[in-house]
Amino acid sequence: MTRNDEFHTDVLVVGSGPMGATTALALATYGVRVLVVNRYNWTANTPRAHITNQRAVEVLRDLGIEEETRRDATPWEWMGDTLFTTSLAGPEIARLRTWGTGDERVGDYLQGSPCGMLDLPQNKMEPILVKNAAERGAVFRFNTEYLGHTQDAQGVTVRLREVATGREYTVRARYLVGADGARSKVMEDAGLQLEGQLARAATAYVLFNADLTRYAAHRPSILYWIVTSNAAFGEIGLGLLRAITPWKQWIAGWGFDPSQGEPDFSPEEVKRKIRILVGDPDLAIDIETTSVWYVNQAHAPVYSSGRVFCGGDAVHRHPPSSGLGSNTCMQDAFNLAWKLAYVVKGYAGEGLLQTYTEERAPVGAQIVARANQSRVEYAPLNQCFRDPGAADPVAAGLAKLAEPGAEGVARRTALADALQLKNYEFNAQGVELNQRCTSSAVLPDPGAGEETFQRDPQLYLQATTRPGAKIPHAWLVGSDGRRISTLDVVGKGQFSLVTGVAGTAWVEAAQALNRPYLRTVVIGAPGAQDAYYSWHRQREIDEAGALLVRPDGVIAWRQPCAADNAAQAQSQLQAALAAL
Ligand code: FDA
Repeated sequence: MTRNDEFHTDVLVVGSGPMGATTALALATYGVRVLVVNRYNWTANTPRAHITNQRAVEVLRDLGIEEETRRDATPWEWMGDTLFTTSLAGPEIARLRTWGTGDERVGDYLQGSPCGMLDLPQNKMEPILVKNAAERGAVFRFNTEYLGHTQDAQGVTVRLREVATGREYTVRARYLVGADGARSKVMEDAGLQLEGQLARAATAYVLFNADLTRYAAHRPSILYWIVTSNAAFGEIGLGLLRAITPWKQWIAGWGFDPSQGEPDFSPEEVKRKIRILVGDPDLAIDIETTSVWYVNQAHAPVYSSGRVFCGGDAVHRHPPSSGLGSNTCMQDAFNLAWKLAYVVKGYAGEGLLQTYTEERAPVGAQIVARANQSRVEYAPLNQCFRDPGAADPVAAGLAKLAEPGAEGVARRTALADALQLKNYEFNAQGVELNQRCTSSAVLPDPGAGEETFQRDPQLYLQATTRPGAKIPHAWLVGSDGRRISTLDVVGKGQFSLVTGVAGTAWVEAAQALNRPYLRTVVIGAPGAQDAYYSWHRQREIDEAGALLVRPDGVIAWRQPCAADNAAQAQSQLQAALAAL
């Protein structure tokens, strides 16, 4: 206990998954003491999450590790020629360009963010997060189990157990973060409730090695859906081959009915199924691991209790469809970490921490619903692929799909519509980037009225400078002549007062206030030149207006017009900061 008082650490985080490791990385980056415990010897031991969406990559970019994660990842352009096929070797039925890689959508994705998507399995992502967090001062204790906690007005006393020796001891922290996943004990101990249903369906997952280059490299995708009667069951009704390390390490997945017990994981049965999915009866297969996961549909309406804050799978539990889990964990962490840092540093009162639930719980509820709906939306595809009354429903259904007559035309028309519906799982840029924060850490712009979306808010990003939205991405020219994003000139633990060359009153006001956490950004000035006039088109305020952007890139306040003078600007800015 070197720094102030009775506390061993400012924040104790239980769990080093995407939620815990990102929280630790952000807190360490902001200079806050953080201790992370994980009951296991190391990070995730299987690939699990992989699809990393643009908003999560923006978080990684702000924390300075985007390039490092990209080095190990399957590149964006290899992610998305998603097949629906009778087997990997067999006749194809349909394809969908996914994750924004298609000609129709790639422009939207490029315009929406400086970050493309990437695909990085969780067992490669977590070590990068942990390594960087540790380098920046976060302390990790593996083989350390969280047992329980009590809290009082000043802090939290956390009971831990050293797994190797069984020794129990306590740690005193100002705040406790429950990032302990879908069986969260921290959440339970804090008295937080879940709403919804757990284990409503189940999937078998097998990690295996086999060289499938000849089937995949010419039509790269991370997901291949297999339409077959004899190796695919359950709610989705399709088998899955998922590329982990293109094109030699894979996961095979298929649904099973959990009421009938565990699936048959004998090597013979597993290899038989994989060979059916691949369509190669002689395929050499090396099985690494087998596992099951259950389909949950549950979220917590409240994420915190006093000094205890939960995030990630602890508070939103849902299937991997839409790839929202780890992505949302990282964003929970990014939302929570700066708030904890500001309270620990004395920049803000504890009321700021209440806004974590207000801002993130609606997102959790939304993604739980979206991910489960994405599973349900395989039904229209299956109707095109199957004929339920037949002895072999898939063979009969696919024969009808290929018929030249009216039945075939009707099925093909239905298939075109069913594929369009899957854009809500695979090209849902709006779900990923349109989140709006509503809380006392966002001050509404009284002149703006209700926001109306011009296009489908799930599919399309609507970039805006309305308070509560993240700052729109526009390319600027930096001091060395390279392109930088508007996202690059804000964030990194600080508030940013963003104005234009004509916004001199705001610049003077910010300088006069001289807050350690507030930087001034003049877009248009050298170092942040609006050379493409892209920001000019997107800012929705006068050049002499101003935005106050939070450390997480969310716009907290906006003034559409010039201030009359520096004194007026100063009092408005001061009032905004005080309210926040
Ligand atoms: P997570 O479960 O990852 O971590 C919990 C941590 O807490 C672990 O370190 C654990 O050891 C620790 N812990 C638990 N109890 C403890 C105790 N008592 N004491 C000490 N430590 C304790 N998401 C996504 O965004 N894109 C995707 O493509 C996919 N794909 C995907 C596929 C499959 C098959 C699965 C199962 C899941 C996904 N996901 C996903 C979801 C993603 O894996 C999931 O959302 C995150 O792992 C959740 O991260 P957390 O950090 O919340 O918990």
